Amino acid sequence: PQNLPLKGKQVIVSAGPTLERIDPVRYLSNFSSGKMGYAMAEAARDLGAAVTLVHGPVALPDPSGMTVIAIESAEQMLEAILSRYDAADYVIKAAAVADYRPKQAAQQKVKKQQGDTQMELERTPDILATLGAQKTHQLLIGFAAETNDVETYALDKLARKNADYIIANDVSKTDRGFGADQNIVTLYGHDFVQHFPSTSKRALAMQLLETIIAQSGVAK
Ligand code: C5P
Repeated sequence: PQNLPLKGKQVIVSAGPTLERIDPVRYLSNFSSGKMGYAMAEAARDLGAAVTLVHGPVALPDPSGMTVIAIESAEQMLEAILSRYDAADYVIKAAAVADYRPKQAAQQKVKKQQGDTQMELERTPDILATLGAQKTHQLLIGFAAETNDVETYALDKLARKNADYIIANDVSKTDRGFGADQNIVTLYGHDFVQHFPSTSKRALAMQLLETIIAQSGVAK
């Protein structure tokens, strides 16, 4: 039907931060609330899609009417998405994946020492870039949270990660973006740009999906 353009489509949405363990009681993470990703998952569900939401640690209740998979680390998020990637039509990567993790997570609590210390970090896998490299028929939508040169970085990610769309927001304003209920974003596609003024994340998610559907056509 007209109002369920994603009926019969499989959509994977990643949301929230990832958490990278240092030892049994400590971790590295970030301030992602998961709100934008959850809003995207709910919008996709409301447009008729079969949605799988893969999320890191957040304080949000599980949305109804979708498969919800809770993970902790970037590695686990990658595995959860990759194992479902072949069947997916759309992947929306709203998660704020940690860029680094401790090179070795200690099995026991690390005892404090006299004076300062250092921790060796290694890069986590870039999930979006991995999906981009393995893309067959899927439409890949990434996010870009930036404090400066938003357009330059967004276009760079579009190309470098082989994504189809990047949704960029300026997180230099504290009442927008991370943690907030409102967001201002710009949607970048290949030869496509559209600015979305300040809107609730809920309304914005619906507008973004409807725009992407109209732009790309659903019957791919
Ligand atoms: O490179 P940057 O982290 O700014 O890119 C943001 C986009 O890439 C988001 O869609 C995010 O979910 C995704 N990403 C990822 N794996 C990473 C880092 C970012 O999938 N390790």
